[in-house]
Amino acid sequence: MNCHGLDGRSAGADIPHLAGQRLEYLQLALKEYRSGARPHAALQQLFSQLDEAQLANVAAYYAGLPRIAPAAPVTTADLEKARDAAKSVCASCHGDDGNAPQAGVPNLAGQHRDYLIAAMQAYKEGRRKHPVMDAQFSQIDTLGMQHLAAYYAAQPARPLARKPSGDVAQGERLSAGCGTCHGLKGHTLNAETPALAGQDPQYLLAALKAYRDGSRAHAEMREMLAAVKESDLVHIAAFYAVQTPSAEPVKAALTATEWAERCDRCHGPAATPANMVVPYIEAQPRSYLARVLRAYRDGHRHQSAMHAMGMPLTDADIEAIADYYAALPPR
Ligand code: HEC
Ligand code: HEC
Ligand code: HEC
Repeated sequence: MNCHGLDGRSAGADIPHLAGQRLEYLQLALKEYRSGARPHAALQQLFSQLDEAQLANVAAYYAGLPRIAPAAPVTTADLEKARDAAKSVCASCHGDDGNAPQAGVPNLAGQHRDYLIAAMQAYKEGRRKHPVMDAQFSQIDTLGMQHLAAYYAAQPARPLARKPSGDVAQGERLSAGCGTCHGLKGHTLNAETPALAGQDPQYLLAALKAYRDGSRAHAEMREMLAAVKESDLVHIAAFYAVQTPSAEPVKAALTATEWAERCDRCHGPAATPANMVVPYIEAQPRSYLARVLRAYRDGHRHQSAMHAMGMPLTDADIEAIADYYAALPPR
């Protein structure tokens, strides 16, 4: 009751709704938790106290409840509110549209939404520290940060207008190993890794130094920069700063709707997959959907069809697909 509610409504963004879920799927899931085939210590403990008939009753109870309507997606009104907040609180440093006017302050325009959210959360929780940013998010909740991030991610980024210090050609050579994560010329594809193309050179240099000396904690970045001389960092910063930023936010290869056509072969209203018990996924909390898709993809939750389906998904695809299904009306 504390987590799934008496009405089958999830009490948290990471917990699935159970109301109106397909009966056979609930029966299967409960049995798998009880046997440990689907590992979850708390649920195994809970269900080991129920016999076969009681499990069937619990499943029937939730399956019989009316489904829960989806949470409201980000609306134009949300974005307008975020823009007003951005203009009154953040613009003095980051510019009205996230193109920062001062050297040393990062541009936020066109940056990946997921990365921006993670960066704000890190400041808020004190995992990332900066005298100026430390206090910015004390009054802003997760939803507010998501809206701010969505606002900035959608703004067009302007290319750098001045010439940075540092040697661009040398920077290109030194950054040969960075593209696996940051993409060609800093056009990062992964939504959780920051795009670097056109970023302010003084900010880039400060960030590189901070990773190198550990004051900004990140194991992979620290390792990447361990072999680079301090005096060479300025060239890397110059190389990324002069690249033209993406004109629009990076698109996944397939849109969420195109992915959904593939998912709906099993999950859709018209699907009749043989020998498979398939759950309804419409109107589940988006964060639950995203977490579960990552778990299948990364092999933390085992089911061969879903693992195969998840393999090609980037984090950006997963976010988009979760947005898509979370906003669909329940069946
Ligand atoms: C007084 C100036 C100032 C204000 C106001 C300010 N920022 Fe910042 N912001 C900075 C500076 C400087 C940095 C770089 C800090 C660092 O190196 O960690 C930064 C970093 C960031 C980053 C990390 C960017 C990256 O690429 O990692 C985000 C996200 C951000 N700010 C968002 C905001 C938002 C949203 C607001 C308004 C709620 C805001 N900031 C208000 C100066 C400011
Ligand atoms: C294994 C993947 C990976 C590799 C390789 C990698 N990076 Fe990163 N980089 C990241 C991630 C993830 C972050 C965000 C870390 C954080 O939250 O602070 C990041 C952050 C950064 C930032 C901060 C940007 C900002 O907006 O604050 C810079 C600058 C950067 N990387 C430059 C480089 C350079 C230069 C190289 C090559 C020498 C490199 N990276 C190689 C994954 C990688
Ligand atoms: C070949 C059939 C098939 C395809 C295609 C498929 N799924 Fe699944 N999906 C399943 C089955 C079977 C399960 C139940 C697996 C289990 O018991 O863990 C499942 C489970 C899930 C769950 C877990 C739901 C819950 O409440 O625990 C989610 C979320 C999901 N699928 C999303 C998707 C998405 C998104 C796609 C498209 C990218 C997709 N699936 C494509 C068969 C499929």
